[in-house]
Amino acid sequence: MLLGKSAAMRDVIELIARVADAELPVLILGESGTGKELVARALHDHSSRRKSPFVAVNLAALPSSLVEDELFGHVAGAFTGAMSTREGRFRRSDGGTLFLDEIGDIPAGVQAKLLRAIERGSIEPLGSEQEEFVNVRVIAATHRDLHAMASSGAFRPDLLFRLSVIPVELPPLRARSGDIELLASHFAKVEIEKLRACTISPEAMDKLIHYPWPGNVRELENSVLRARALASTDELVLENFEFLFEVREGRSREIAAMALRHGIQIAEMERAMLEEALRISNGNETEAARRLGLSRRSLDYRIDKKRN
Ligand SMILES: Nc1ncnc2c1ncn2[C@@H]1O[C@H](COP(=O)(O)OP(=O)(O)OP(=O)(O)O)[C@@H](O)[C@H]1O
Ligand SMILES: [Mg+2]
Repeated sequence: MLLGKSAAMRDVIELIARVADAELPVLILGESGTGKELVARALHDHSSRRKSPFVAVNLAALPSSLVEDELFGHVAGAFTGAMSTREGRFRRSDGGTLFLDEIGDIPAGVQAKLLRAIERGSIEPLGSEQEEFVNVRVIAATHRDLHAMASSGAFRPDLLFRLSVIPVELPPLRARSGDIELLASHFAKVEIEKLRACTISPEAMDKLIHYPWPGNVRELENSVLRARALASTDELVLENFEFLFEVREGRSREIAAMALRHGIQIAEMERAMLEEALRISNGNETEAARRLGLSRRSLDYRIDKKRN
């Protein structure tokens, strides 16, 4: 179920209800792990197509030479080794919804054929001269900037316009921290075999709310499940989430990469890490140094530098 109480998510949920039954294509945009696939399913489940198939194709996971065959199928003898007719995903989603995940990864050569299929509501399997009509609602998703790709010639502008008749934008989780508590509590108690249902202590929750979640909802979900697996009581406390906040070497590298992506200066980042380590250690510098993987001397040097 699609959860959210931030203004941004309420808008998305309302939009889904409003456009689920429109037969028009929907383009879902958002960083990895923001819930794009869940939105696509919600659209299908709220539409009158809900009893017909929801078929998902991940275009990033397919070798580009196979995409056309996968989408449109082929007839016997279409190419060497094509012994029999094979239905494509368009045919298999007839009457229902076809979810084209990672549409930004669709090979250039297939874009025109996809546009034709959407506009005409028909397909031509490989090796067939016969136009076959299908009744398919297309929903596409990507984490890529399709407009930039269209400007640079990597994506057909006409296909982009056609797909984005109804755009749905999922903001990153850090931009809707109002959803974190709701989502975290949900993942803490959702029934999962062998994992006990838990609550989250206020202190731990506060940390989760202020964590930047580069992997968005998926990272939050995995983190809560990991904490549940590690916990020995029914309440998840700060220590159960230590893996998120421990400033280890690998983590530092990840944070530095993130800082670069977001244009934060390394010096600024270093100061933030230092402050965070001191805070977690209640001002105990030896403990902070241990957490940062630094010697006391080098920590002192950095604290001095920060003061100046
Ligand atoms: N609003 C939400 N409420 C409940 N669960 C959510 C929400 N958003 C995402 N999730 C959960 O987070 C996980 C990731 O979501 P999903 O697979 O839809 O993301 P995605 O945007 O398709 O990611 P990717 O780009 O990496 O494929 C899923 O387990 C999904 O159920
Ligand atoms: Mg996805």
